[in-house]
Amino acid sequence: MAKEIAGAAIVIFGATGDLAKRKLSPALYHLAQKHRLPEELYIIGFARRDWTDEYFRDQLEAGLRDHSTSKIPPDQEVIENFTKNVKYLQSTFEDVSGYEKLKQFLTSLEIRQVIFYLATPPDEYETIIHNLGGSGINQLEKEVKIVIEKPFGTDLTTAVRLDSVLHSVFQEKQIYRIDHYLGKDTVQNILVLRFANGIFEPLWNRNYVDHVQILVAEDIGIGSRGAYYEKAGVIRDVFQNHLLQLLALTAMEAPSSFNADALRDEKVKVLSALRPLQEEQVKVNTFRAQYVSGVINGSRVPGYKDEGSVEPSSVAETLMAARLFVDNWRWAGVPFYLLSGKRLPKRITQIAIQFKQVPLSLFNWGNMAGTAPNVLLLNLQPDESITLTFGVKAPGPIDQIAPSMMKFDYQSEFGIEPPDAYERLLLDAFQGDAALFTRTDEVIAQWAFTQQIIDAWKTNGGKNLPVYEAGTWGPQGLEDFITRDNRKWKLPDDL
Ligand code: BG6
Repeated sequence: MAKEIAGAAIVIFGATGDLAKRKLSPALYHLAQKHRLPEELYIIGFARRDWTDEYFRDQLEAGLRDHSTSKIPPDQEVIENFTKNVKYLQSTFEDVSGYEKLKQFLTSLEIRQVIFYLATPPDEYETIIHNLGGSGINQLEKEVKIVIEKPFGTDLTTAVRLDSVLHSVFQEKQIYRIDHYLGKDTVQNILVLRFANGIFEPLWNRNYVDHVQILVAEDIGIGSRGAYYEKAGVIRDVFQNHLLQLLALTAMEAPSSFNADALRDEKVKVLSALRPLQEEQVKVNTFRAQYVSGVINGSRVPGYKDEGSVEPSSVAETLMAARLFVDNWRWAGVPFYLLSGKRLPKRITQIAIQFKQVPLSLFNWGNMAGTAPNVLLLNLQPDESITLTFGVKAPGPIDQIAPSMMKFDYQSEFGIEPPDAYERLLLDAFQGDAALFTRTDEVIAQWAFTQQIIDAWKTNGGKNLPVYEAGTWGPQGLEDFITRDNRKWKLPDDL
């Protein structure tokens, strides 16, 4: 049953930016449509640009019209309803008087909770948090929460620092750190598949699993984000967060209950059990590369170095692979291969659990039974599905074994697209459920692990960084990275 959410305000810092338009406005609209928003909701924009309340309202409407993922056209009545209390406060993030005005306005509202949503570039976070604290808005006599977008710091030191700034103003239970992958329905389904079914868990360990592959492939390049990406690369952009979260959800033990802390305790245990990588081990267990011009979907696209705001000598990696081990009783010795890249042939996020081969093959004919053992494939996007592959006897002589599969398909099962991650995350923030947000120790554990790779790569300086043509599945070295272990990447074209 949907919980009643008492009157609320959401203050969007950086309201004139892309995130507010592309993600927050459509998510709020869809929640309004499903009657999940508070009856009385104030949407307050706080940003530098000289906008009026009316113009901000129009931009919210334009945002949801342009970016709603629903096939049903937006309903004017719902739009008018959820945007009936819109306010825009023009201020720089440094200007203390802007926060005073905001405080006055919020104090005048008869609402029960306020969410501060930081949708600004990350280098503004500390200033905003500091000023929220300085003006005392964090102590309004209302329930106050803060939602903070990734990237949460740019390395271990800055993440620890940002965390301490946050904790100087807010308590951990007020903080909602977004990793939008956790808001995806199919990502949550990893937990349902594992812990709402009895048949998988007994097999979900080193006795039966040969290895795990986690793939986050994108066909898009870096677009207009060259300046950010130069400093980030795949490692900070998606490995430190989305990939490690997917690994944690796949590898974690069953939590004692489905509450925020129980769930996050288990994820932290996995992250802390990742086998540390010394410099020499980073060389062996990671791989990185950068795309050059190539053809995707029939069109030629520029190479990374030809993108805007990218240095001609850049060594930022646009693809990385890692072989990681979770050193605990469940997973000892089972490699987790992680792979992510931009400008790959297609967008796909999947987790493949490859089971071990039969102990002794009775059907030793070099066909399916011998070469393609059972795989449980969780396709998280875009064709949301779960398939289990196995061999069946083909008609005719017994030496003909054909690969077959059992399949769950989200679309055909439910007849709708999964809701957008932000819809879920905003609703949870309003309802005070932090299960799908990352906790301080989790983020720090993710950074602590990632930092070892960043440091080792820095020492090496990215000399002889391999390149791959856009539209291909990476350079030869990527293939060698896994075939030396007698394994093979599970890429969509091969499945
Ligand atoms: C973001 C990264 O966190 O995730 C982007 O900054 C990436 O570079 C995006 O494109 C991928 O998200 P999704 O939901 O499209 O898989």
